[in-house]
Amino acid sequence: MERTLVLIKPDGIKRRLSGEIISRFEHKGLKILGLKLLKLDTKKAETHYAVHRDKPFFNDLVSYITSDPIIAMVLEGRSVISVVRGMAGSTDGSKAVPGTIRGDFANSIQMNIVHASDSQESYEKEVAIFFNHEEILSFEYGDEGLI
Ligand code: CMP
Repeated sequence: MERTLVLIKPDGIKRRLSGEIISRFEHKGLKILGLKLLKLDTKKAETHYAVHRDKPFFNDLVSYITSDPIIAMVLEGRSVISVVRGMAGSTDGSKAVPGTIRGDFANSIQMNIVHASDSQESYEKEVAIFFNHEEILSFEYGDEGLI
């Protein structure tokens, strides 16, 4: 089974969309193995978005993601990295397809509600920023045979 890291960004939290977003992942049959509300510090935000360090929007992105609380989650499921990227939709909310999280709730590039790891390599780097090993639980929901 594959795992991914998802963030509900400050706009998602402040627009009270956390329950809606978590519910979509639950209803898809993904397992939530770790979940926390936190305020990200600048150093961790710069590490998380290190691949964008040379982009013109980097400083704004770091300011934004550290401005207010976020939720970090570890999800598990079959092909979960691509499944969650599909559920999130295109980065630019104005281009994201209806039915996706961004397509339904975002109209901005920066304030696009969620972040989701784009590869196994990204997941491994990102999860270490947000979770200690013991904060990621391993348990059976009991419905695995139905999903
Ligand atoms: P995310 O999936 O968290 O990964 C990188 C983030 O950078 C992205 O979502 C957007 O929030 C942000 N981003 C990407 N492109 C732009 C852009 N052109 N202008 C501003 N922010 C951007």
